[in-house]
Amino acid sequence: MQLSRRKLTGIAAVAVSAATVVAVSTSAIASSSHSRVPSDSLRALASKIGLRVGNAVNMDLLNVNATYTGIVANQFNTVTPENVMKWDAIEPTQGQLNFGPADALVKFAQQHGQLVRGHTLMWHNQIPSWLTTGVSNGTITNAQLRNILKQHITDEVTHFKGKIWQWDVANEFFTDSNPSMINPNDFWISHLGTGIIADAFRWAHAADPHALLFYNDYNIAGEDGSNAKADAVYAMVTQLKKQGVPIDGVGDQGHLDTQYGFSGTRMRDDLQRYANAGFRVAITEADVRTFVNNSTDQVPTDNLALFAQPYEFDQMMKACLAVRQCISFTIWDVNDSNSWVPGVFAGEGYATLYDVNYQPKQAYTDLQVDLAGAAFGAPHRVGDSHFH
Ligand code: XIL
Repeated sequence: MQLSRRKLTGIAAVAVSAATVVAVSTSAIASSSHSRVPSDSLRALASKIGLRVGNAVNMDLLNVNATYTGIVANQFNTVTPENVMKWDAIEPTQGQLNFGPADALVKFAQQHGQLVRGHTLMWHNQIPSWLTTGVSNGTITNAQLRNILKQHITDEVTHFKGKIWQWDVANEFFTDSNPSMINPNDFWISHLGTGIIADAFRWAHAADPHALLFYNDYNIAGEDGSNAKADAVYAMVTQLKKQGVPIDGVGDQGHLDTQYGFSGTRMRDDLQRYANAGFRVAITEADVRTFVNNSTDQVPTDNLALFAQPYEFDQMMKACLAVRQCISFTIWDVNDSNSWVPGVFAGEGYATLYDVNYQPKQAYTDLQVDLAGAAFGAPHRVGDSHFH
């Protein structure tokens, strides 16, 4: 019953969105909720405590698939472009910038009272082939590469100036080894040195001084047993801050897998450590994958995964809720059939909050309960007139 109410309201909200464009877009940054969303939605509950809950949006589905679009509109008050703000999407041909799909997402977000996480300016993946080819065949020198990167960051951040809440300026620069370090073989580091990370933040800040600038990575808040990567990232971001580099936040992606151990307490402590050093923190790409029967149905092969999967989502949310500086919790992909997991991790899936038929799973309910508890607390017990 709850589900059909949510679905119906979802369709209604999409239908009325055109009429509410003006009112919502002018207050999008200030408003923490949207008047037409269900009161038990993740976003409505999160907004009670000033938290933003989000998802990674696939622009091939937004405004195309009504169920998908309704969930994005009704459940989330921040959105991240899953791919359309990455460099290969923005500049597939050198010098020809294509902001169309990303602009469409920003417009959708403004119409629905959502803030946008910009993702991502400097990463070793999904960079244009003209760039990697030019670097490998020597037609682009390191000095030119640096200028091209500066231009890219400046162009993209300037284009979206005032419209992006948080930018993932640098993504995935650390090794997974113990001890961890900035990866010397990373595309950007190997050509431009480690100083490029600080420069990227400076260039982004110059182009939009009000955007919150994040370092984003996986396994940097309690997910790896040794905590080596979290320690290494902590050392870098605190050093950058001490040097006056404009870095505001640390994003922990939160890509979990039930086959590995995970400590929510450790995550909370690591998030708090960044926070105590003056950073905002965010869970930026939460999903919890597990082994499944096949990629179409995505039924977990181990019955215990039905418990582990929502539990790990719940633990991540509780870690975020415990830390005042944790300002957003973004899930990576809306439902299991559009999740990136089956295509990347052989045999795995079931990673999101909604199943392949867009039905909310236990993980959805658990996050809803967590957020309701945070928003309202537990209901006061019924009284008894004789015993107090
Ligand atoms: C993934 C997208 O989900 C896929 O659609 C794409 O093919 C590859 O990238 N860490 C990140 C994200 O920072 O950008 C990645 O997104 C997932 C891992």
